[in-house]
Amino acid sequence: MLITFEGIDGCGKSTQIRLLEQWLRENNIHFSLFREPGGTNLSETIRSMLLNSGVDMNPVTELLLFSAARSQLISEKVKPLLEEGRVVILDRFYDSTTAYQGYGRNSAALDQIEALNKLAGHNLVPDITFYLKIELEEAERRTRNDFKDRMEKSGREFFQKVIDGFDRISKNNPRFQILDATLPPDMIHNQVREFLKTFL
Ligand code: TMP
Repeated sequence: MLITFEGIDGCGKSTQIRLLEQWLRENNIHFSLFREPGGTNLSETIRSMLLNSGVDMNPVTELLLFSAARSQLISEKVKPLLEEGRVVILDRFYDSTTAYQGYGRNSAALDQIEALNKLAGHNLVPDITFYLKIELEEAERRTRNDFKDRMEKSGREFFQKVIDGFDRISKNNPRFQILDATLPPDMIHNQVREFLKTFL
């Protein structure tokens, strides 16, 4: 079973994943967790290139690097684990590429991005995607004092387009569970748990 978490920087994704990890451990449910981009030696190397704010990167190059990191993680780790029947949690998957590179950067036409996502995702489709929805102002307020990487330095207009992208791809898509990221973390976690109980 493949569970993915999505949302813009500052949406509280890491907190929710940490709470879910604790709950799964307490219930003796075995799982594997990976972050994107990352999760393998090669993908982590690509991550550091992508997030390095000293690097000036063409948008198509960026799209291809996120996809390259994904292909390696999915083929090396995620697919084999899913084939063994393991629960796999991904901190971001190809919906981030659609939202950030597709809607945010306009790196390529959306149908090209969709084809690339399929290729780099080795045809996997998540069983559930939790989208932590938050307004730009609230996300900015939460990340005001954080160190900013190359992606996070992309500016307000970019992030508004990313939010609009996530809103569009999650709308009317039964794979998505849209969560109000402004609720207290425990309350959001309860919603995640309630939802997963029917699956696990
Ligand atoms: P993280 O901070 O959630 O680990 O994600 C790293 C950054 O990379 C974050 O700003 C979102 C961005 N990103 C993309 O732009 N496209 C992608 O496909 C992925 C997976 C992440």
